[in-house]
Amino acid sequence: MSDVCNVALLGQKFMGRAHSNAYLRAAKFFNLPLTPVMHSIVGLDLIALAPFADRWGWKNYSTTWKDVVKDPDIDLVDVSTPNYMHAEQACTALAAGKHVACEKPLAHTLRDARLMKNAAVKARKCKTFVWYNYRRCPAVALAHRMVREGRLGRLYHVRASFLESWGGPETPLVWRFQRKYAGSGAHGDLNSHLIDLARFITGQEIVEVSGAVAETFITDRPLPSSANRVVPGGMPGKKHVGKSDVDDCTLFLVRFKDGAVGSFEASRLATGHQNHNGIELNGEFGALRFSFDDMNSLWFYDNREAGVAAGWRKIVCTTPGEHPYAGAWWGEGRPLGYEHTFVNMVADMMAVLAGEEPIVPLPDFADAYETQRVLEAALLAAKHRAAVKLTEIK
Ligand SMILES: NC(=O)c1ccc[n+]([C@@H]2O[C@H](COP(=O)([O-])OP(=O)(O)OC[C@H]3O[C@@H](n4cnc5c(N)ncnc54)[C@H](O)[C@@H]3O)[C@@H](O)[C@H]2O)c1
Repeated sequence: MSDVCNVALLGQKFMGRAHSNAYLRAAKFFNLPLTPVMHSIVGLDLIALAPFADRWGWKNYSTTWKDVVKDPDIDLVDVSTPNYMHAEQACTALAAGKHVACEKPLAHTLRDARLMKNAAVKARKCKTFVWYNYRRCPAVALAHRMVREGRLGRLYHVRASFLESWGGPETPLVWRFQRKYAGSGAHGDLNSHLIDLARFITGQEIVEVSGAVAETFITDRPLPSSANRVVPGGMPGKKHVGKSDVDDCTLFLVRFKDGAVGSFEASRLATGHQNHNGIELNGEFGALRFSFDDMNSLWFYDNREAGVAAGWRKIVCTTPGEHPYAGAWWGEGRPLGYEHTFVNMVADMMAVLAGEEPIVPLPDFADAYETQRVLEAALLAAKHRAAVKLTEIK
């Protein structure tokens, strides 16, 4: 590869915008060894594609992903389509010798995720990445570092919740509410992020899901208008509602390899919360707490401090030279937002493709497969109302 990386992005809606912005901005803020070039954008909606390409600076646009991923000019294929498309698109791209960055969860089923992990092993010269972007909040990256420095000591608790409220009865039956496209609901969508965060920050694997509960509160949803149907959601005009067959919430308990216990909760019906992604760790020497609601801060409790001054300390993670990623941005006290997590990830992907180290580790397909195994164990635990050991999930 030369000093540019030609990118083909599959998907042009929500993540399409987030990733386009990241490719556009990364080389402006980071000194990259490799510059991403916005070569081709792919989507299903031809009418929307031309203005999208023009607005974001994509050189070409197409509705046929199979041609684009085989284009000899393309170096990196970014899969940002609904979950059921991930395996076919990623495996085709890997077989064509492309690096692949895939959105989370890795796939809609464990079987597809396994295919992807194996395809990545086979394509030895290709790198794979998965967009678990919350790792790249400076506060999360700092938590990862502090755990490795031994600031928590022996870990007792991990407490994680991802709470949203957009999934009320008026929300149409888009692909996210259909198992054949999404795999699961709040679970694959939100618990996947939490499992990745827990594994990333603690450095420990989950060895057992000790119990789980999943619930679908809203089974009948209005069909989306044809303009909003990214994938088929029924035929408007024939009937007005369709069935949702995914969970609106899933909660589960786990054991980690070194003995810590954890709780996870994801919901799309947590009234009062919009995008609360939070994790707390309690250990022998201290505790850490992160919430995306206040994403520039990491809270630290130092259990070794004298009791009189003991208390939670708010670390504002914007100091260049001290906090991960802060040096690329605006400086002391100037907060970052959602979009910066994606820009930071593009910067790290370019570093890895150039043979350099990322600021904090990136998840590849093998890593994201471990997260998918935990998702699967929790699905089975909820279905059978029983504990599931991860050794049972191959
Ligand atoms: N990292 C995050 O925080 C985050 C947030 C939201 C979504 N996601 C993930 O991103 C992925 C996409 O979600 P989204 O919210 O952007 O969905 P979306 O519905 O907003 O957009 C999906 C896009 O995929 C395109 N598409 C669908 N089928 C296609 C096909 N066969 N070929 C080419 N393009 C096709 C559509 O045209 C559309 O542009 C999902 O896997 C989702 O879980 C991740």
